[in-house]
Formats: sequence, structure tokens, C-alpha cells
Amino acid sequence: MNILLIGSGGRESAFAYKISQSPRNTQLFIAPGNAGTETYGKNINIKVTDFEAIGRFVIENDIKLVVVGPEEPLVKGIHDFFLNNEQLHKIPVIGPQAQGAQLEGSKDFSKQFMLRHRIPTAHSRSFTKDSLQEGLAYLADKQLPIVLKADGLAAGKGVLICATLEEAKKELKAMLADAKFGAASSKVVIEDFLQGIELSVFVLTDGKDYKILPSAKDYKRIGEGDTGLNTGGMGSVSPVPFADDAFLKKVEDRIVIPTIEGLKTDGIPYKGFIFIGLMNDDGNPYVIEYNVRMGDPETESVLPRIESDFVELLLGVAEENLAQKTLKVSEKTAATVMLVSGGYPGTYENGKTITGLENIKESILFHAGTTLSHDEVKTAGGRVLAVTALRDNLLDALQQATADAGRIFFDGKNFRRDIGFDLID
Ligand code: AMP
Ligand code: GLY
Repeated sequence: MNILLIGSGGRESAFAYKISQSPRNTQLFIAPGNAGTETYGKNINIKVTDFEAIGRFVIENDIKLVVVGPEEPLVKGIHDFFLNNEQLHKIPVIGPQAQGAQLEGSKDFSKQFMLRHRIPTAHSRSFTKDSLQEGLAYLADKQLPIVLKADGLAAGKGVLICATLEEAKKELKAMLADAKFGAASSKVVIEDFLQGIELSVFVLTDGKDYKILPSAKDYKRIGEGDTGLNTGGMGSVSPVPFADDAFLKKVEDRIVIPTIEGLKTDGIPYKGFIFIGLMNDDGNPYVIEYNVRMGDPETESVLPRIESDFVELLLGVAEENLAQKTLKVSEKTAATVMLVSGGYPGTYENGKTITGLENIKESILFHAGTTLSHDEVKTAGGRVLAVTALRDNLLDALQQATADAGRIFFDGKNFRRDIGFDLID
């Protein structure tokens, strides 16, 4: 069958790699893709939010499955667009409709959902411009640090962890009264700070049943030793050594099952991935956030460990028979190191020529921010390439991925040499 994948990052490169391995795939298209996704399919120059153009392409190219990578088109209703179109409504879309996508699109919605279904998470309250004074009073009684979250999508920047009351008050005012994050911060969730170590668990669901995909840990800060500014993610490992069977059983019983059942109780249809950002506090899991897509760069570690036919799993979602599909996961460990542009996550330059790609023989290379120009691969984003090594143990995987990250070159290249080493005893 012909398959259309929406997106252009490292996550989508990992999806494309996995989809292209499936005997069910005839022709994969990626909209818009990057210099690397051409290895697995054909890039088409359509924006991820241009639903009309995507719809036309699907009809003209006999696409039988649409897989959505990023959250933006989901929150903006790409799945609903298909369902509401006579010619498209039978084409399965992997990714929730706009209502389900609110789990990521609105922090307030997701907190209410967790509260309603008794899913463990930090205590919180939401405030708007009209209740700013109440918000300021609420802050005064809280323990520090305290977490402020813009309700809407803010390109990963909408969460502030404030160490002092003065800072928290200033930021709350900036978000509510001065629209610091535009409309996204017209409502703010004030949330207690959770202690512990973070990890991510990924669930694939057809709305009735679910499969828990391998867990992963990502490294968000730009600097080694987890210092400096937050990024989209500088690397990842899967599995997570401290997420043992007993912990994952708690995650399933206390979080995954109530989430799937909660969606059913609330009458929210959901076909796609749920990315659960968790805090492990002394062996007990708490939800930090839901995302309605896979993580990036977690996907680059998670998907290479999936040994079953990935398209079969996606078809299980589409046809609502996921329970009958098997998920086989490799015992090996995957480590991913991200190469980023100099200056990222601040300002950086694009268009730097990338060399040394042919040096990578032992790792899988997933392109993220790259483009082809006159037969040269150039940088075209903050996060440029993901290098993933799959090995029998974590140390070998980390050493391989880190060494291979050093074998690729471009002006200003930066990467963390310490990804995952904190997890080695
Ligand atoms: P988010 O945008 O929701 O992923 O939040 C960004 C990051 O802020 C998370 O990955 C956590 O590291 C941190 N964070 C968010 N909420 C909390 C919380 N309640 N307690 C501690 N850290 C948090
Ligand atoms: N790596 C975190 C994210 O994809 O949101």
C-alpha cells in the first residue's frame, strides 16, 4: 500500500526507516521530509498544516494510510479534516482528532482529565487574566520551586520552573497580563514541583486496546551534566535501566489503563500514540505531561528496538484490531546522540555543508534538520542529525553513538558527549 508520513524531523526519519522495512509498504511519501527521508521514500513539498494540499495528494496518489508525526497538525485537526471530507473519510489517519489532541494542546484540559480519572500527577490550579490576583495570592502560599505552564502550545518553551516567589509572580503577570507566550498563555497552570528522575513511556492505542512501546529517557539541556538552556532534546536511550518491570507495572496500572479507560468514558476517540512524560519519585510514577505523538529524539531510540512489522501495528490501530497484533521488542539497548547547530537553542545559521556521513557504518543515521542543495547535504535546523547505536548493553551503545557523532562534520557542530552515562552504575 502507499503510505503518507507527515513531518520532517528526526522522529519522522525513524518512522520512515521503520515503515520502509515493512513488506506492506509499496511506496512511502514524506511531506515535507528532509535530505535523509529520501532514502526511505519520496519527499513531497507540502507543509504539515496544508490540509487541502495533503488531501489532494492522498486522493491523487492512492494513499491508504496517513501517519502524522508532529503535534501541530493534530491539534489543528488534520484527522477531523479527513473524517469530514467525503473523499477522505475512509483513509485511516494515525494520530488523534483535535479533541484528543487537547491532551497536549491544553495543559488545563490534560490536568482536568488526570484529575477526573484519578491519574497521579502534581497538584495544580489554573488561572486567567481575570483571576490574576487570585493566582498571585495562590503563589504566596506555595512551596518553592513552583512550576508555571502556559496552557497552549508554546514551541516547548511554555514551562517555567521558578525558584523564588518574586520570579514566579513576575512570570505569572508576564504570561497572563502581557501575553508572554501569546494566546498560549492566556491561561496558566500553576503546578507543584515534582522531585525525581524523568522518563517517557509511549503507548499505541486504537481506542480500545493498547500496546506499551519501549520506554526511553531524553536529555533536554544543551550542556553536558544537564546544564544550560532547554532544547527539543539532545539525545536519548532506550530502555531506561531504572524503569524495571515493577515500576512499569505501576505505570500500566496507575496511568496507562486509566488513561485509555478515561478516554473511553469521556467519549474521546483516540487512534495513535500517547507519549507520557513521567517523574519517577522513589519508585512511584507521576504524569508530568501528555503528548499526542512520539517524542523526538526518543523515537530514534525506541523504533530501532521494535522488531515487529511496524506497519502491521499501525494497521491494527487503523482497523481497531490492535489486540490481535504482536509487539516484539529487541533486548538490545539503543542510544541516540543529536548533532546540533552552533548557537542552538538560541539563534544559529543554516546552510552549512555536512561531510563525513559515509563514515557512519556501525550506527543508524537519522536526518533531522537537513536539506539537499546541489547534491550537497546542508544543515537546515537547530537539531541536524541523530546518531543511533543499537548494542547488547548501554555502555557499548553509548560509546558507539558518541564516537560516530564525532565522525560527522559541519561548521559549528555541537553535541553532548555525556548522553546516558549517568545511567551507568
Ligand atoms: P513540558 O513542556 O510539560 O514537557 O515541561 C518541560 C519540562 O519541565 C519537563 O520535561 C520537566 O523537566 C519540567 N517539569 C514540568 N512540570 C514539572 C513539575 N511539575 N515538576 C518538576 N519538573 C517539571
Ligand atoms: N523530546 C521531547 C519531546 O519530543 O517533546
